[in-house]
Amino acid sequence: MNEKRRVTAAGLLRMKARGERITMLTAYAYPTARLFDAAGVDVLLVGDSLGMVELGFDSTVPVTMDDVVHHTRPVARAVTRALVVADLPFMSYTTGREQALQNAARLMQEGGAHAVKLEGGKAFAPTVTALVESGIPVFGHLGLTPQSIHRFGGHRVQGRDQASAQRLVGDAHALEDAGACAIVLELVPAPLAQRITTALKIPTIGIGAGPDCDGQVQVMHDVLGLVPPGGHIPRHARPYVDLGSIILDAVQRYLVDVRAGNFPTAAQSFTMEDSVLAALDEAARLVPSAPRPGAIPPSTVPPGE
Ligand code: KIV
Repeated sequence: MNEKRRVTAAGLLRMKARGERITMLTAYAYPTARLFDAAGVDVLLVGDSLGMVELGFDSTVPVTMDDVVHHTRPVARAVTRALVVADLPFMSYTTGREQALQNAARLMQEGGAHAVKLEGGKAFAPTVTALVESGIPVFGHLGLTPQSIHRFGGHRVQGRDQASAQRLVGDAHALEDAGACAIVLELVPAPLAQRITTALKIPTIGIGAGPDCDGQVQVMHDVLGLVPPGGHIPRHARPYVDLGSIILDAVQRYLVDVRAGNFPTAAQSFTMEDSVLAALDEAARLVPSAPRPGAIPPSTVPPGE
């Protein structure tokens, strides 16, 4: 793929056909999105995982359309090459076609997303078709779908028994037939993800779904080790740096320097003309400063304050 050419939904299909692995990472803000785009990430996902990793919720359920639009804008502004996909959050596409169309339109018109992602299989095929027919590229999301975490009862691998594996295969075909441009497979056994990948023309993008998917997606915080003290990185992720420790160490050194009077030094300070300073000092000497209106005269301040 031409490194400078913008990644498109149709381009992902061509990447699969050429056997080129698709790289995808979540992004929620301008500086990181710029870095990821410069690094050459193909797809940036403004995932509703932002509820946990950026907003401090314990699931994606409280994330609203306004939250996703707000975080999509800076990501869309940051990219020169990557495809920006925004998540349709919990209950923003499930009550009807009109609702899905209106909210997907918001992600693209207000947020600047190039595509949207929604969770669910066969039941959502008509919604996917309606979106695609309106010109909106759609990523599906199967396996562990985090918006249903309260139904699943935890982050469990999906599709381990024959019935649920067969259901997943059927859902994947239904999404492809409905016009989805790619499918995220989350927490699916590797051999099942491999079979789904082989069976589909559209790319699969795995997260905890083994090495045989057409691409991989990870939450940026897990790849960068950007977790708060006591936080945890899921087993399917590989942290490439320990940003949490690096940030903790840097901020603690800053505090030490400020408290010791070692920051700022001349290098971080600004000067002014000596003649201006001399005139200022002379003026202050000639006109003793008047008390500020409302200031308490020193004699009325109780001792100890
Ligand atoms: O919201 C998100 O970050 C996601 C990824 C886990 C695929 O959907």
